Amino acid sequence: MKVNFLSKGEIEKEVSNIIIDEIKNNPSCVLGLATGSSPLGVYQRLIDAYRSNMVSFKDVTTFNLDEYMGLDEYDINSYHYYMNHNLFNHIDINKDNIHIPNGFVKTDEEAVLYDDEILKAGGIDVLLLGLGKNGHIGFNEPYTSFSSLSHITCLSEQTINDNARFFDDVKKVPSRANTMGLKSIMNAKKIILIVLGCNKIDAVNELLNDEISVKWPCTILKKHLNCTVFIENVIIDSIF
Ligand code: GLP
Repeated sequence: MKVNFLSKGEIEKEVSNIIIDEIKNNPSCVLGLATGSSPLGVYQRLIDAYRSNMVSFKDVTTFNLDEYMGLDEYDINSYHYYMNHNLFNHIDINKDNIHIPNGFVKTDEEAVLYDDEILKAGGIDVLLLGLGKNGHIGFNEPYTSFSSLSHITCLSEQTINDNARFFDDVKKVPSRANTMGLKSIMNAKKIILIVLGCNKIDAVNELLNDEISVKWPCTILKKHLNCTVFIENVIIDSIF
């Protein structure tokens, strides 16, 4: 796992360039995409690159990490809405190539079919991740099995409270989500983790030590052969 400490702007530039280069090298590549506030600057840069004819997404396929249970694409808090609003509506991606976990699956057997779709597409070439305060990646909360594939999960109180900032009432935050599993994530050929802000110090500390533990799901990334972590440098003072 490679770790870089950079400013927010530098991280957004580096990460968007990695994605743009990937598409230029392989116009029909498969991207894994994240939501939350951390990837927003990267998505804006991808839109800018498309608008200035630097890149086309017309043959790119995407697989998002997760979706809240019970929210559809018209709900402004759904990740379907987020992705359309913050990226897909502004680029030339073929809507048939967009995949986002379904927030209305009934069972894990139905949820795991998402991994078959990823496999059929040839696997994820580059997967973008954000980090939860409790070390979650996707919506894989502490103690999720490292061998998990896509599944329905219950959100921790910490995650519900953290994500309440996007909702007008904490009671409206769904208590469950459909998420790629940790094995689905580790199957990606290349992983990029973005960590912005100072409020994730505990998770960052766990990421930077030598231990791998189900208590901190992000620590599994230490086993990945091609994972780069970009940590905002404001966090350095708090760590060292
Ligand atoms: C949500 C998403 C995660 C994301 C996390 C961090 O919980 N399910 O995929 O990484 O938020 O969000 P932020 O980037 O806003 O800190």
